[in-house]
Amino acid sequence: MSTPPKQQVSERDLLEALKWQIEAGADEAVGALPLDRTALPAAAPAATPAGGRPAPAAAPAAPAPAQGLADASRPPPAAQGRPAPSLTSASEAQASAQRLAAAAKTIEEIRQALDSFEGCPLKATATNLCLFDGNPEARIMIIGEAPGAQEDRQGKPFVGPAGQLLDRMLAAIGLDRTQVYITNLLYWRPPGNRNPTPGEIASCLPFLERQIEILQPKLLLLVGGMSAKTLLHRTEGILKLRGRWADYHHPRLEHPVPALPTLHPAYLLRQPAQKREAWRDLLSFAEAMEREGLTAAAAATAD
Ligand code: URA
Repeated sequence: MSTPPKQQVSERDLLEALKWQIEAGADEAVGALPLDRTALPAAAPAATPAGGRPAPAAAPAAPAPAQGLADASRPPPAAQGRPAPSLTSASEAQASAQRLAAAAKTIEEIRQALDSFEGCPLKATATNLCLFDGNPEARIMIIGEAPGAQEDRQGKPFVGPAGQLLDRMLAAIGLDRTQVYITNLLYWRPPGNRNPTPGEIASCLPFLERQIEILQPKLLLLVGGMSAKTLLHRTEGILKLRGRWADYHHPRLEHPVPALPTLHPAYLLRQPAQKREAWRDLLSFAEAMEREGLTAAAAATAD
């Protein structure tokens, strides 16, 4: 019996395959070697965590990652040692998030809680947890949507191009990152920067609510439609919500927190003509800072 001839793959086929992957949202290579995810071997024992993150006792054995053409023994770097999320139902995930978040008393404990949280499947595909940047004592909190590629690599919110524009927006009203606390609705990057699902948002929300409770900010800047709609329980789009102050309420907060929705810097990079509207919002935010006694210098200190 003769062996079948080796299949020749043309450059055109390779380019088509690459284009298909980019369209499907795979916009960066996370491993040096290709991986054939269609060739899963039979279930194998769960991999030993490489990053110090223990596999939860209840986690089902993660199937050994499908192996690529060249390496039959190692999972891809981004997934090494990361147990598959073990909480299957949305209600279980939310209950776990609420329990873990409620037990956290500091922002550092929120980080530890997120490290042990297994209810958000994005954790399995992200490279790093991305919790906050800025000053954990600040009285101004800025809440975006979700980490992008650079945030995922550095483990900090708003460090990519949108973050650089956010820095310039803050500078225009006399603020920098030492005077604000910056976080997102989600703590792991959605693959290919796709929109977060309602389930992913719900599973991460208790951690954001708890951060707000711990920080007791005097003002919130809600950057983009996703964070404005989620925190203010609204359904309108950001073009309707932006520039209108609303109160953020939570039963465990003594007082509601004034919150201003504004346009997301990533949107402003695509639609620079809208910067005028964002500038109006920033002026309104600066006035509120003044009213609250939060001049740029005071914004960073708890009273
Ligand atoms: N966009 C966001 O909403 N958050 C980030 O951290 C980066 C980009």
